[in-house]
Amino acid sequence: EQVDVDPASYDAGEHDSFMHKEMQEQPAAADRVLRGRLDERFGTARLGGLNMDARETRAIRRVKILGCGSAYYVGQMGAALIEELARIPADAEAASEFRYRNPIIEPDTLYVAVSQSGETLDTLLAVQEIRRKGGRVIGLVNVVGSAIARECDGGIYLHAGPEVAVASTKALTNMFIGFSLLALQLGRVRDLSIADGKRLIAGLTRLPDQIQAILDREDELAEVARTLAGAESLFFVGRVRGFPVAREGAQKFKEISYRHAEAYQTSELKHGPLALISEAVPTVALVPSDELTDRNVGALHEIAARRGPLVVITHEDVDLGDVAALRIDVPRNERELDPILLTVPLQLLAYHAALHLGHDIDKPRNLAKSVTVE
Ligand code: G6P
Repeated sequence: EQVDVDPASYDAGEHDSFMHKEMQEQPAAADRVLRGRLDERFGTARLGGLNMDARETRAIRRVKILGCGSAYYVGQMGAALIEELARIPADAEAASEFRYRNPIIEPDTLYVAVSQSGETLDTLLAVQEIRRKGGRVIGLVNVVGSAIARECDGGIYLHAGPEVAVASTKALTNMFIGFSLLALQLGRVRDLSIADGKRLIAGLTRLPDQIQAILDREDELAEVARTLAGAESLFFVGRVRGFPVAREGAQKFKEISYRHAEAYQTSELKHGPLALISEAVPTVALVPSDELTDRNVGALHEIAARRGPLVVITHEDVDLGDVAALRIDVPRNERELDPILLTVPLQLLAYHAALHLGHDIDKPRNLAKSVTVE
């Protein structure tokens, strides 16, 4: 059985699809998830719904994030945020796999379930397995009162508003912001300084306008998308913070354009997939301005030398040298928050490729918005 939001009960207005409408709603949705949750004086987040006091929060030794599909990939972005800001070992796992390896549930691990619908059965069953074994689970959930939200010990509602398109956009962005708030709160009861806390709050506050600035460049991105739509197979590559972004970008592209899109760590290309690079196989590369820029640019040379077409999502100050590439510069934020700004152009690329190919954007074949079977 598969449950879908009934598009008839909502209205896409002047948009050709709900996905388009929901992408455009991201700045407003991002504002809503932040509202009332920033404590500027102490440089921290105020997340009343976690139901954990400072002592319990400090006792956490590990964070395990569970979700499916896009929620899983944003969970990987969230794990990176928690490790960087709170210095707590964190990782994300596909909720659909979790129960089947008889997972070790520990009392000092914080489990986090991520879900737009709050009804994904694989995620719900993972939550129930953890709680049955005495673990503490919090939810990052969009739909208020949904099954996963009810089953958790506490959580952060995402306030993205109803999301109808199968391909998640505004809910995913708010999941990322939700993880940033969680990482900030975990960090500030541990070793994250007040200065760093304030730096991140300022960064979070800038996000809605920066997302809008990317959405405003839709025509440019549509043109790039048309060049990608012709390829049967593509790579999406990134490193460290950029790798979950690549996974999410490939997922979106697959879901709605029906092209084979594979995500890879840029550093692993030389250990295998470089053999596939040719003029027929484009690569979308995430090259943010960070400690890995030079190495990433080196990998672009390897791709260009094999005549692989390149689309590079990067920052203005990055020098790509003589690599021939279609280049998309996104606004810079604090580097911990860059992943979400690198993600937004990938939504537009997938959307415009699918539009160009004439596919049903909101209801891709074989997929449902919310999968309530195992
Ligand atoms: C389905 C959809 C995906 C979505 C996933 C998780 O598989 O096709 O696009 O990311 O469910 O949905 P959730 O509601 O739990 O976030």
